[in-house]
Order: sequence, then C-alpha cells, then structure tokens
Amino acid sequence: MFKLQTQSNNSPIGIFDSGIGGLSIAKCITEQLPRENLIYVADSKFAPYGEQPLDKIIERVNTIAQWFIEQHCKAIVVACNTATVNAIDQLRAKVSIPIIGVEPAIKPAAALSKNKKVGVLVTSATAENPRFLSLINQHKNGASIFVQPCPGLVNMIETGQQDSHECFALLTQFLSPLLANNIDQLVLGCTHYPFVSKQIKHIVGNNVHLLETAQPVTEQLSRQLKKNKIVNLSNGCGKSLFYSNHHNTNHDQLLSTLWSTQLRFTSFI
Ligand code: DGL
Repeated sequence: MFKLQTQSNNSPIGIFDSGIGGLSIAKCITEQLPRENLIYVADSKFAPYGEQPLDKIIERVNTIAQWFIEQHCKAIVVACNTATVNAIDQLRAKVSIPIIGVEPAIKPAAALSKNKKVGVLVTSATAENPRFLSLINQHKNGASIFVQPCPGLVNMIETGQQDSHECFALLTQFLSPLLANNIDQLVLGCTHYPFVSKQIKHIVGNNVHLLETAQPVTEQLSRQLKKNKIVNLSNGCGKSLFYSNHHNTNHDQLLSTLWSTQLRFTSFI
C-alpha cells in the first residue's frame, strides 16, 4: 500500500499519460469540472508505453502515482489506455483514493455500428493485453471488431510530426485493412490519437464515425468525486499545473494552443 498524505476537497487531481496524449482528457476535465485543481504529468521520457515491457509500464505507473500522492492528490486519472489495461488493477490494489482509467470505447461503437463492423486503433501493448481482449468479448454485442496496432504512431505525435507525409503514410497503412473490412465505426484506443483525428478523417472519409474517450472519462471522474464526497466546492476556477520529464517546445505549443494561453511544461524527474 502507498502511504496516503492528507487531502481535502481542494486537493488536486493527478492525471498522467506516457506523454501529451492525456492532454485531450485533461482539457475536457478543466472545461467540465472548472473548479478542480489539476496536476498533469507527461511521462514523455518513457514514451511510448505501448512498446515497453509490462514490468516497465507498471514501474512508471507506480512511480507517478506515488508522486501524485506526495502532492496530496485526492484522485488519479490514468489518461492512457496502455497503462490502464496493463497496470490499473495492481495500482488500485495499492492505493485507496479513486483511480479512474480509460478504456477504448468498444461498447458504444458496437451499439452505434449499422453494419456491425468496428475498427479499433491501439498501441501494440494494448492489442496483446488480455484485459483489452476480454473487454472486446464483453462489449462486442455481435459486432466484428478489427483491432489494428499502430507501432510508431505515438512517437510521430510526441515528436510533432503529425502533419508530415510519413505520418500520413503510416496512418494509411494502418487504416487500409480496416477500410477493406468495411468498418463504419472507428475507436481511437490511445489518448494520443485524437491529435491525428483530422488526418484520420481525411483517410477514412465521412462514412466512418470516430469515437474518443475524453467525455466518458470526465463523466466517470465526476461520478467518483461525488460518490467519495471530494468535489471541489470553492468559488472560482481551479489551477492546472503541467509537468514533463522530456522538454520539447512542440509540447509547450500544443499545450498553449489547447488552453488558448501561453503555458509551459515544468520539469518532472
Ligand atoms: N496515450 C497512450 C495510450 O492511450 C499512449 C501509449 C504509448 O505511449 O504507447 O495508450
């Protein structure tokens, strides 16, 4: 068990990802739960998690969670599909504060699909994970689910190459088999992928609907805060702090664009 520090309703929520992917979720949280204080950690030095062995993913998740607890966080959002499927169960067993994870939106995709053909883009470590495979079986509801691992894509986004020809070629390579299977729903099963949704839409066209997870994760966080009576009730807007262990000006730019104000990541070890 991690030794918990004192917390109050005003304590921050810790949110992390292997890099900048989880910012898509952090942004949704700040918009919908504006009174909450947030601490975001981009573990970019260790990205991509999807190409790391299981014990490394677990070690990173526990190191960051321990640090959040030292910062008196009242809840933790694992804003990473790869870390959720590979490490959230062991983390929940060690920590008593609410831990909210993110899982690919298979259930709503299967429900929305007219031809019962759903594509899912994930990292390699998610694609092979038994928890993920059982999520598919549990929620496919008669639909055929086509899983496409996307090695190299997180790295393209982390290094600011999302608008490059190389990234477009990589996406075309990953999406072609899904289009050949005639999918009408496409689940973005990695929090980095919303940052290439424009490129994905260009390739798949208007007949394929994209599903992201920022909204359902924010709703789940809100339910957990209410259930545990730890909603921040103070007047005014909460503060958000952003940390990264691999400084990159592209990341500062993305952060500033998303929050529409000049922001920088602070160094995190
Ligand atoms: N954003 C992470 C996810 O949702 C990316 C994992 C990685 O670093 O490979 O899976």
